[in-house]
Parts: sequence; structure tokens; C-alpha cells
Amino acid sequence: MRILSKNILGKENEEVELAGWVAGRRDHGKIIFIDLRDRGGVVQLVFTPKKQEVYDLANTLRSEWVIRVRGKVSARPGGMENDELPTGKLEIPVDHLEVITKAKTPPFAIDTDGREVSEDLRMTSRYLDLRRPRMQKNLRNRYKVIKFMRDYLTEGGFVEVETPVLGKSTPEGARDYLVPSRLHAGTFYALPQSPQQYKQLLMVAGLERYFQIARCFRDEDTRGDRQPEFTQLDIEMSFVDQNDVMDLIEDLYLKLVKELYPEKKIRLDKNGRIPRMPYKEAMVKYGSDKPDVRDNKNDPDELAFLFVVDFPAFEWKETEKRWDAVHHPFTQPQVKDTEEFWKAFKKDPASMLAKQYDFVLNGYEIGGGSIRIHDPELLSAVFEAMGNKPEDIKEKFGHMLTAFEYGVPPHGGIAPGIDRFVMLLENEPNIREVIAFPKTGDGRDLLMHAPSPVTEAQLKELHIKLREEKQK
Ligand code: AMO
Repeated sequence: MRILSKNILGKENEEVELAGWVAGRRDHGKIIFIDLRDRGGVVQLVFTPKKQEVYDLANTLRSEWVIRVRGKVSARPGGMENDELPTGKLEIPVDHLEVITKAKTPPFAIDTDGREVSEDLRMTSRYLDLRRPRMQKNLRNRYKVIKFMRDYLTEGGFVEVETPVLGKSTPEGARDYLVPSRLHAGTFYALPQSPQQYKQLLMVAGLERYFQIARCFRDEDTRGDRQPEFTQLDIEMSFVDQNDVMDLIEDLYLKLVKELYPEKKIRLDKNGRIPRMPYKEAMVKYGSDKPDVRDNKNDPDELAFLFVVDFPAFEWKETEKRWDAVHHPFTQPQVKDTEEFWKAFKKDPASMLAKQYDFVLNGYEIGGGSIRIHDPELLSAVFEAMGNKPEDIKEKFGHMLTAFEYGVPPHGGIAPGIDRFVMLLENEPNIREVIAFPKTGDGRDLLMHAPSPVTEAQLKELHIKLREEKQK
């Protein structure tokens, strides 16, 4: 039975079987040392001419070949220990060696942190890039973060519900990715920019506490903290006000960091809480709606969380000559009813506030949420104020307005971005370092070669004719 390299500790003089990749090779006179790497770490294998056949085969071994070995766990000779390796006091003189697969020479070094390699090259052979210890650590820790969130919320009575990826365009502010329908010529699904409307409908459905590790898609220009597809911890709750939502996130995030990253110093206010700062104060004091409030910005282990609250409800969109929602149109403006809404909107839309909160960490927006409008009349009024004609409101949001006529609980939620949070926890410079297969700056997958042309037959089935200028 194969065991992991890290599990040889305490097994001195026992015969073990190990399997993994050749991570390195050193020849000292007649002795060949091979570092064997598996998911648990690295262990030193030793080959001597005493076992001639095994030795001859070992002589052919090259980096990244996959091998299986058997041998007795032995103490390294005095002075040969490596304190940097957990298995550094031990080695395996190999009695049996099997080459499972050979490997070409990798296009770049795998035992470095990879920062010296061009990103295009790393992405082209991402499966090799992911072998490096830093990337293994990032992916494993990302999973631990997500598992912590899942366990915490499950414990708190939340249920994870999957919502459709083939859906309808939802106004989250970015461009949609569209998927043509084969069965309904000329119509399109939109990939979700977020599960916003579905999670609100789940509140109408009586779930009360929903979450989802949700993939979101936004066709916007890629940056260090932005990917065309990314992951949110999407949350929605019924019968809550905004402090309930922030309290939940505060408790979850503080517990998560203390448990998984005990070395981090969390900056809190004098009451031991994550500070909550009005948008106006953030703009006046820091000139930013996501201020970096760390005491020492050079300290990689300092985490300064912040909630920014009381955002403006509306902003003027000069290109479209209309008022638009700062967050999204489902956000509750700070008014008590439709009458008060129209009064305030007609007077000065720019001064109206919303029950919206952003979650900020070290100058990054790591989450956003709001209390939603649950009064269908007020929701229609907000759509109208944003320049929608009654027939457009019915077409775009009729399903929400209708659903709200059947007993809708007051509700609100939040969606922290997982990629940005893990990036900051791992002290990485961008979110591509914590995503297994990210897209390049111009939205390409260099490994699978996406996006890519499709056949004429596929296009025909989808009722699509490419415009001349796009045809290659
Ligand atoms: P919002 O649009 O603010 O809110 O998004 C929430 C959080 O998602 C992360 N995020 C991204 N991360 C990586 N790449 C991107 N392109 C990207 N875009 C957003 C950010 C951001 O704070 N439905 C609402 C939430 C709600 O109201 O409950 C929403 O999606 O960390």
C-alpha cells in the first residue's frame, strides 16, 4: 500500500511504498539521490550500485518522471540531515523502482515560486505551474477557506442552493456573457453576473437563509483583482436589517482568520469590532469608498477589515442621461415608502442614501450587499425613476414584481468575493494566483485555447450568421 512521504516519520526500519514525481536529482560519486515529491511533501531516495539493476534504472530518471518505489525507512547518516524538510532526518534506500511514466523536460522550473517565469508561459502549461509548492498551498488553502464558510453557515441554519447558470440578464452593471438558444431561434440566455434575482426569489420561496459558493460571469476588462469568471460567497437572509447581515459576516470572517491564519494581526476598533464607516466619511477622510485603514501598510500579516455603509442610492449616468442605482436596483433606498421615495427623488436624487454596505479589506472591496426593496410598488417606482418605461419594467423585471405579490418577507444579503479574500490572505499580488485556471488579461485561456472559433454547422444550429468583419 502506498503511503505519503510525510507519513514515513516514525516508521524507521519499516518497509514502505511511495509514489510521486522526481523533483530533483543529485549524483554524489556513485550514489544517486532523488527527491520524490507527492502531495504530502518531499522525501529523499537513495540508490547505490549495491542493487545494480535498480541503480541502472535510477540512472535514467529525469525531472518530473512518475515513479513508484519500495524501501526501508532509514536514518540519514550524521551530518547529512536537512532541517528544512519535515522528512529531513530520514531517507529511503530503494530496493524496488518502477517507472510509471516518463516526462519531457518542463518548459520552466517547478521548484521555484514561479515569479521569474512569464505569466503567459505559466498559463500555457498551468498543470505544471500548479505543481509548484506555492500554487499547491494556495489551492489547498482556498479550499480550507471555502470549507470553513460552508461549515459555519450550515451550522447557522443556512442551506446551500444551486441556481441556474443559464439564466436571464440581470442588471449588475457589467456586460453579460450570452449563450444562444438552439431551440428558440434568436434568443439568448445570459450567464449570471451574480445569482441576485434567484436568491431573492428563494426568500419568496421561504428558504430564509440561503448561501452558495457561486460562480459569476462578467464581461468586463480583466485586472489584477478582476476576472471574467469569479467566485462569490453569495448570501441572502429574510427578516433581517443591515446590522444582522454585517454581524454575521463579521463573526464568520474573524473566526475564519483566527482559525486558519492565526499569524495574522487583525485591526479592530476599540470595542474589538470591525469598524463601520459611512461612505461620506470614507470619501472625506480617505478619498476612497474602499479605504486601506491598516496601521502599517508594509506589514503583510496585517488585516484591516471595514464596512462602508450609507452609500448614495443613485448616480447620474451621463452616457445614458439617466439616474442609475449605485449598487443594483433591488437595493432599498433609505425611505419608508413610495410616497417618501418620490418626494426625495424629485428633490435631489444625488443626496438619497441606500441600505447598502461594502465589505473592505486592506483597500480592496471584498464584498457588497444590501437590504432589498420588498414592496413591489416601491420597486416599480425605483425602476421608473431609473428611466425604465412601464412595458420595459414588465419585460425585464415582471417576474420579480409578480413574485413579490405573493407574500414576500423583508430580506437582504451580501456577496463577498472569495478570490480577492484568498489573494489577500495569501499575500498574493493578484487573484490569478489563487484561481486554478484563470484567464489572461485579455480574457483568454491559453491552456485550452478559449475562446475559439466554432464550425459553420454549430453556428447554423444556433441560428447565427457572423458579421463579415468578424469572419476570419
Ligand atoms: P457586487 O457586484 O458588489 O455585488 O460583487 C460582490 C463582490 O464580488 C467580487 N467581484 C469580483 N471578484 C473578482 N472578479 C470580478 N470581476 C468581480 N466582480 C465582483 C468583489 C465584490 O465586492 N449581487 C450583489 C451582491 C448582493 O447585493 O448581495 C453583487 O454581486 O469582491
